[in-house]
Amino acid sequence: MMRPKQAVVAWLLAGSVLLSVCAAWAAEPSAPAAKPSGAPIKVGHLASLTGSEANFGQSCDRGVQIAAEERNAAGGVLGRPVEISVVDDQSKNQEVNNCMMKLIQQDQVVAVVGEIASSNTMAAIPTAQKYKVPLVTPGSTNPEVTKRGDYVFRICYTDEYQGRVIARFAYKRLGTKNAAVITDQASAYSINLSKIFTDEFTKLGGKVAVEVAYKKTDSEYNAQVNQALQAKPDLLVLTGYYTNVGNIVQTARKAGFEGPCVGGDGWDADTLYQIGGKALDNTYFTNHYTPDDPNPKVQAFIAKYKSRHGAVPDAMAILGYDAAMVVFDAIQRAGATEGPKIRDALAATKDFVGLSGTITIDAERNAKKNIVVVGIKDAKQYLKEAWKDE
Ligand code: PHE
Repeated sequence: MMRPKQAVVAWLLAGSVLLSVCAAWAAEPSAPAAKPSGAPIKVGHLASLTGSEANFGQSCDRGVQIAAEERNAAGGVLGRPVEISVVDDQSKNQEVNNCMMKLIQQDQVVAVVGEIASSNTMAAIPTAQKYKVPLVTPGSTNPEVTKRGDYVFRICYTDEYQGRVIARFAYKRLGTKNAAVITDQASAYSINLSKIFTDEFTKLGGKVAVEVAYKKTDSEYNAQVNQALQAKPDLLVLTGYYTNVGNIVQTARKAGFEGPCVGGDGWDADTLYQIGGKALDNTYFTNHYTPDDPNPKVQAFIAKYKSRHGAVPDAMAILGYDAAMVVFDAIQRAGATEGPKIRDALAATKDFVGLSGTITIDAERNAKKNIVVVGIKDAKQYLKEAWKDE
C-alpha cells in the first residue's frame, strides 16, 4: 500500500511522463497535409454583397473564403479541394430565389452557407428544400427560420434568447423602466425581436410605452423619433439593422434624447459607427463574439483578417468562417456529396469547436451559443458584459 504522499508523487510522476509524451507528440512536425486533388466540391454562399446590408455579406464572405483556404491547406474535403461560389442578392428579398437557382442549377453546389438577414434566409428555404440542398445560416436568429424545413440549420443563437438578454440587460443593468420600441416593419428579424423584448421587459416589471415602425427605405426618421419621444421613454429599443439604427440614433440625439439605446446583433457593422459617430455613446447591443476574446484561435483569426482587410472582423466574419467550417466537416463525415447525406451529417454535428464558441446542432437544427453585450463609446465598441444566464 502506498501512503497518501507517495501516491500523490506517483500520480505527479505519471502525469509528467504523460505530459512530456504529449509535448513530444505535439512538437513532432505534423506531416504536411496531402494536397487536395480532383474535381472541386462546390459550396454556395448566398450573401448581400451590395445594397443596404452589404456589410453583412462582405464580412461573411471574407470569413467563408478564409475557411475554404484553410481547409484546402489542410487537405481539403474528401481529398478534394473545396470551392466557394458566391452570389449577391443585393440585400433584396425578391432576388434570393434567383440566386439559389443559380447556385444549385448552374454552379452545382452541394450545400449553401447563408443568408444573414432572417427574411432572406426564409426566402431561400423553399428552393433548398425542393432540391434537397442543405442551407446553413451563419447569422439568422429568427426562431421561425429552422422550423421551415429539415434542410435548414443555424450555427448561432436564436432571438428567443437574444431578445430576453436585451430586456434583462436594459431592466437590470441600465435600470430603465419605460421603453419606446422602434421596429423595421419589413424585417422578420426586427418584428420578432421587438416582440420578444416587449414580452420579457413587461414580465420583469418594465413598460413599453410606445411601439413605432419604419421602412428600411425611409430616408429620414423625424416622424418616428418624435412619436417615440412623446411617450417620454427612458430607453429606445432599436431592433433593426445598422444603417437604420445609426440614422435613428442620430435623429434621436438631435431631438434631445440622452438616455440609453439598445438593440441586437443587427447593429454589428463598421457602417454603424460611420453613420452614428458620437451619437452612439451610451448605446448597447447583444452580439455573437467580442474581439476581446482571449482564445488564441480567435486572436489568430483576428490577426490574419486584419492583415488582409485592414480591419478587425465583425461577428459576421466570425460566423461565416464557422458556418463554412461546419459544412466542410459535415461533408467529410458524410463521406459523400449527396444532399440527404450531408443533411444527416449536419444534424449530427456535436461539440464542433468554432471561433464563436462550441457548436452542437440540436433536434430543432439550432445551436445554443453564448451572448456578449457590447457597449459603444467614441464610435468604438467595448465588451460591456459576457452574459451569464440569470
Ligand atoms: N440576426 C440577424 C437576422 O437574423 C442577422 C445578423 C447576424 C446581423 C449576425 C448581424 C450579425 O436577421
